[in-house]
Amino acid sequence: MIIAVDGPTASGKGTIAKALAAHFGLPHLDTGLLYRAVGVMAVRLGGDPDNADEALAGCAFDDALLADEHLRSEMAGGLASRASRHPAVRAALLERQRAFAGQPAGAVLDGRDIGTVIAPGAEAKLFVTASVAARAARRFNEMVRRGEQVTLAEIAADLAARDARDSSRAVAPLKPASDALLLDTSDLTIGQAVQRAIELVNSRAEGGSSARP
Ligand code: C5P
Repeated sequence: MIIAVDGPTASGKGTIAKALAAHFGLPHLDTGLLYRAVGVMAVRLGGDPDNADEALAGCAFDDALLADEHLRSEMAGGLASRASRHPAVRAALLERQRAFAGQPAGAVLDGRDIGTVIAPGAEAKLFVTASVAARAARRFNEMVRRGEQVTLAEIAADLAARDARDSSRAVAPLKPASDALLLDTSDLTIGQAVQRAIELVNSRAEGGSSARP
């Protein structure tokens, strides 16, 4: 079974995807990490992620970079968002993601275009959302725990800018697949969100559509 989990940053999609992979015994790929690696690598090579050729050069990152904690920073997220709007960058990462999705037992992938572009035939597609206020508060708490100096207003502005960039780009914009099930996590705990996600996937795996909100 292929499970596609898409949604904006800090919606909870990564946590949900990881939990779904553990629950259903499937391998998991956080595709955002690939774009983060491209953005960071492009800068390390002296390039600008807004420039298509220089962003593309970042696709030659070493896989060891994927384990680098720095990729999880807001800064790397911003670089990823800038690099990811170039069609050549998306094309360069396409096969890797499709191969992961095509493993015999199936897989869970989370990102922005899994249900629409990478695995349009996925058996279960979730689109995970949450209000900007809820997402900013979560990200703020995470960053404060890590000892980073930020304000809630800065984070909310950054999230809104990233949403706008991801949703308005010409290639593979952030949008739910027509057959995706929506999961709004604004008022849910992590446990509740994961439970609901499992129910939604099961409803799809059983061939039902009654779970559509
Ligand atoms: O999900 P995450 O916040 O790690 O993604 C970082 C950035 O990478 C996103 O803002 C988006 O621009 C880009 N991305 C993408 N397609 C994906 C995953 C991430 O364009 N499948």
